[in-house]
Amino acid sequence: MGAQKKERTGKIISNRPLDRNENFWAMKIAAPESGFLPGQFFMIAVSEHSLRRAFAPSEFDGDGFAFIYGVVGEGTQTLSRLTADTPVSVIAPLGNGYDLSALTPDAAVILIGGGTGAPSLMPLAAALRRRQIKTHSLLGARDATRLLAAEELRAASDVLTVVTDDGSAGERGNVLTALNRIAAAAAIFACGPRPMLQAVSVWAAAKKIPCQVSLEERMACGFGACMGCAVAVNVNGEKKYRRVCADGPVFNGAEIAWE
Ligand code: FES
Repeated sequence: MGAQKKERTGKIISNRPLDRNENFWAMKIAAPESGFLPGQFFMIAVSEHSLRRAFAPSEFDGDGFAFIYGVVGEGTQTLSRLTADTPVSVIAPLGNGYDLSALTPDAAVILIGGGTGAPSLMPLAAALRRRQIKTHSLLGARDATRLLAAEELRAASDVLTVVTDDGSAGERGNVLTALNRIAAAAAIFACGPRPMLQAVSVWAAAKKIPCQVSLEERMACGFGACMGCAVAVNVNGEKKYRRVCADGPVFNGAEIAWE
């Protein structure tokens, strides 16, 4: 499904904090690539001796990638200290993207993003718009300070609904609060924290709406060699394991063995 993966050296174009507390950052890397599909990811080495980290692009224009990340540990802290012109090792594209083959141009779909998963929906929203498919995006976050890519997704979607746990941006509630008001959709695509993906998948299964979710498991190798990203799925009533990096990261939400 994806293009052949390639390792190359990219160069940082910019790396800047998005908030006053410097919890979230946006990085752009010049790394020419073709054949990227929304939902695929890339891995970068943040230093010579560190493990690679997986990131899903928020923007991809053929000359490079942009992505948004939260500073959550040593690796992302190191990443936030890198400056423009620093060379980084990039492997991309990796994994399987969203499957849009069943959608007709008159379809209306729902995109659901939570936390740092939200910006990665932007290439998907752009691809759907090119196919004249109507999109209603639902963005959820704990509070306004953790809401990412809202303005960009507003521009890329036909309708945008924002919900926060404390009501500090958009409506008070969670994505299910908003989802419950939507009567029908041809498909749901979601990326964000696992509990959100589970709740959305269960909701979609009850309504018989196809639902694709992009899992954000921690990855080590990134291309299927270590099984460090295994996730349980139900196949014909049997529990099996799939590798998020190589078999996903996009899965049918109804097949995941949520627990
Ligand atoms: Fe190694 Fe997925 S990260 S198999």
